[in-house]
Amino acid sequence: MARNKIALIGAGQIGGTLAHLAGLKELGDIVLFDIAEGTPQGKALDIAESSPVDGFDAKLSGANSYEAIAGADVVIVTAGVPRKPGMSRDDLLEINLKVMEQVGAGIKKHAPDAFVICITNPLDAMVWALQKFSGLPSNKVVGMAGVLDSSRFRYFLAEEFNVSVEDVTAFVLGGHGDTMVPLTRYSTVAGIPLTDLVKMGWCTAERLEQIVQRTRDGGAEIVSLLKTGSAFYAPAASAIAMAESYLKDKKRVLPCAAHLAGEYGLSNTYVGVPVVIGAGGVERVIEIDMNNDEKAMFDKSVAAVDGLIQACKKIQPALA
Ligand code: APR
Repeated sequence: MARNKIALIGAGQIGGTLAHLAGLKELGDIVLFDIAEGTPQGKALDIAESSPVDGFDAKLSGANSYEAIAGADVVIVTAGVPRKPGMSRDDLLEINLKVMEQVGAGIKKHAPDAFVICITNPLDAMVWALQKFSGLPSNKVVGMAGVLDSSRFRYFLAEEFNVSVEDVTAFVLGGHGDTMVPLTRYSTVAGIPLTDLVKMGWCTAERLEQIVQRTRDGGAEIVSLLKTGSAFYAPAASAIAMAESYLKDKKRVLPCAAHLAGEYGLSNTYVGVPVVIGAGGVERVIEIDMNNDEKAMFDKSVAAVDGLIQACKKIQPALA
């Protein structure tokens, strides 16, 4: 059986890490695409030269032309600019929207059957625009945010409780921004909800709220430390989990920025919700029950995403 083909649009910090992880996990042959000449070629060669040491078989190549992504099974998009200290994800909107227009046209022409995962920020608005620009079915275009935000939450909780990260599950919904909604009721240590752990004295409600806030600020914390860019290891790992679920038809339940067509009372938008990812792309959107507080936080987050989508429509009237 021929290997799968994974195309990475953007060969920067996240793109390079994606290529390395996809190689190590033998997910398929990998094409890195970027407008910067030499960067995708250099990263592809460097990673290929690590394959004998790590013992993985994959063809890696770099390109500056969209023809190279032809027939890709999975396309992961990181093209665009990352934020610098003091910038919000929303500050990237105008410049990255133009990038999405080019990328969408490239995917439409050369990889219309791919499962597309968008990482470029501001995420929810960019994946919404990318689906429109590419014209691909909405179940085949999804945004990576919830897996990353949930992973940050899980890591902070595992540290706090001094337990394995493997036994912490966590759910973060809503937009990928300051209004994201970490759901403590649905987050657990080995099945015990955080709300019960507070009652059991594992931590105070105040401490839990601090961890929730650190999760919301997780991206900014990394930006302020790195100073020259934003996070890339955890974002890449998160998108690879989504790609793997699609390629292996694992049907994992993952929080992703997904197209909503009536679910949660919303339509024609993208926002972070739990979905099932399998060979059919986004196979199911799971509608969970929210209490009044959670619903209020979710609505606020949806409103923030909607503001960005409206801004996209103003900049590019073809999207309206
Ligand atoms: N087409 C293709 N590639 C592009 C384009 C374009 N129009 N514009 C920029 N790029 C490339 C850049 O040349 C660069 O190599 O996108 C790459 C982005 O890489 P980095 O600057 O290293 O950014 P990275 O950390 O990988 O983040 C990329 O993901 O998480 C988000 O906020 C982050 O939007 C940012 C994106």
